[in-house]
Amino acid sequence: MGSANYEIVGKNYSEFRQPDPRISSLISSYLESAKSIVNIGAGTGSYEPTGKIVSAVEPSEMMIAQREEKPNTVVYQASAESLPFNSNSHDAALAILTIHHWENWKKGLSEAYRVARDKIVLLTWLGMPQKFWLYDYIPELSSVDKDLFPSLEDITSILGQVQVINVPIPHDCTDGFLCAYWARPEMYLNSRVRSAISSFSRIADVSLGLNKLSSDIQNGEWRRKYGHLLAHKEFDFGYRLIVGKKNA
Ligand SMILES: C[S@@+](CC[C@H](N)C(=O)[O-])C[C@H]1O[C@@H](n2cnc3c(N)ncnc32)[C@H](O)[C@@H]1O
Repeated sequence: MGSANYEIVGKNYSEFRQPDPRISSLISSYLESAKSIVNIGAGTGSYEPTGKIVSAVEPSEMMIAQREEKPNTVVYQASAESLPFNSNSHDAALAILTIHHWENWKKGLSEAYRVARDKIVLLTWLGMPQKFWLYDYIPELSSVDKDLFPSLEDITSILGQVQVINVPIPHDCTDGFLCAYWARPEMYLNSRVRSAISSFSRIADVSLGLNKLSSDIQNGEWRRKYGHLLAHKEFDFGYRLIVGKKNA
């Protein structure tokens, strides 16, 4: 399976993928001691902490074009697999929802480990603790993601011992990744919303599942089956912050 083409997938990114403030504070809390950060697969610059020296690494022009100028930040059009920095050149390496897109995640993670002096902070997905209701409508989504994301064992094979922190997804999450709309099912019916979620770009035709979702929302079936979820303010969908310490 090839990596998603962000020259196409990235078109509506900044409109629907605004950093979520709660996830942002969690990430920042693990970067407090770092003065310099390399943000790998930086996209449009979401989750880059302020008040630090930042090197943002991003291969896609479409994504770079959507960045806002930020002080103390230099953008490098480059890939994770070959970082244009000396070893131990940054206090921390950050990679948010990106390692599953890398052509060679082993090489990319080894590069992150090489250029970080102190720690490596990743946000990734380690599999659903329980089935996501959207898979009932579009079962292909389940296999697409399972095949794509490195496992915890994969990650520790490069980073060594790591800390794993749960990242529950708020019911009103502002960063529109796949599970972000778990409490707002109607959002998946919007093609512009789906266009900012790379998993959808890997499936040829989702119309059957979306037609069923649309009628279930209208006739109350979605609420009967999954409405109990709406009692939650946040939910665990398997997103995890992984913090590796160098010289731990
Ligand atoms: C889902 S976006 C995440 C962007 C950003 N980190 C965020 O949290 O919004 C994935 C990003 O990974 C980038 N990417 C894909 N292949 C890459 C590679 N080999 N090296 C670095 N970044 C890559 C894509 O261009 C895209 O910007």
